[in-house]
Amino acid sequence: MKGVVLAGGTGSRLFPLTKVTNKHLLPIGNEPMIYYPIKKILEAGISEVLIVTGVDHMGDVVNLLGSGKDFGCRFTYKVQDEAGGIAQALGLAENFSAGEPVLVILGDNIFTANLKDAVNTFTSGASIFVQEVHDPGRYGVATIEGDRIVAIEEKPKIPKSNFAVTGVYMYGADVFTIIKTLKPSGRGELEITDVNNDYIKKGQMTYSLLEGDWTDAGTFESLHYANQLMNKQLHD
Ligand code: G1P
Repeated sequence: MKGVVLAGGTGSRLFPLTKVTNKHLLPIGNEPMIYYPIKKILEAGISEVLIVTGVDHMGDVVNLLGSGKDFGCRFTYKVQDEAGGIAQALGLAENFSAGEPVLVILGDNIFTANLKDAVNTFTSGASIFVQEVHDPGRYGVATIEGDRIVAIEEKPKIPKSNFAVTGVYMYGADVFTIIKTLKPSGRGELEITDVNNDYIKKGQMTYSLLEGDWTDAGTFESLHYANQLMNKQLHD
């Protein structure tokens, strides 16, 4: 399996912190945000990692991360020309994946769970991680029946459950075929939720509860919380 960190987007919800830098370079605990998803991929036993980011800050991202030598891995970089959504960014990973499955982590997702077992048991289709939250309406929200997810709604006004879809996904290489069929959503983006719903319709989606702490860091409130979490880990 190969790893993909999606670190594009405009970071508009964190303006002006993101006026001159990329959201994923902002500090969390004692490291830049993007270190956390990278370390989760490496911890899972994956050493080939693609970083996708926008044209504005690719230089800074490469300056920070380099070849991967310091992390004991190999980085590949791809530019997302415009902020066209998570699924569009993932589409750029097709050649990199070279037919292998991918572990995809959104660059602003900060969590404590170890993904190694999930990665080792993944075979094909898609597998996602959910966690119960108090504010599901700002995420993709999963409707769960028994041991299956039957639908995911992106940022629903009236959420059907409290289970947020986290920004941690595993896909077989067929994900790139699915991405090519997507149409932009109301917010003008290719949505990862549409990719996931395609797998759900085909009966090829499994899920796990993401254990431990998890947050994204895309709003001031969640950025603050991510810092609290990682500062606590530093001092524990
Ligand atoms: C994205 C996804 C959403 C997911 C979230 C996790 O939302 O679209 O389904 O729940 O990441 O962090 P965004 O952060 O782009 O609003």
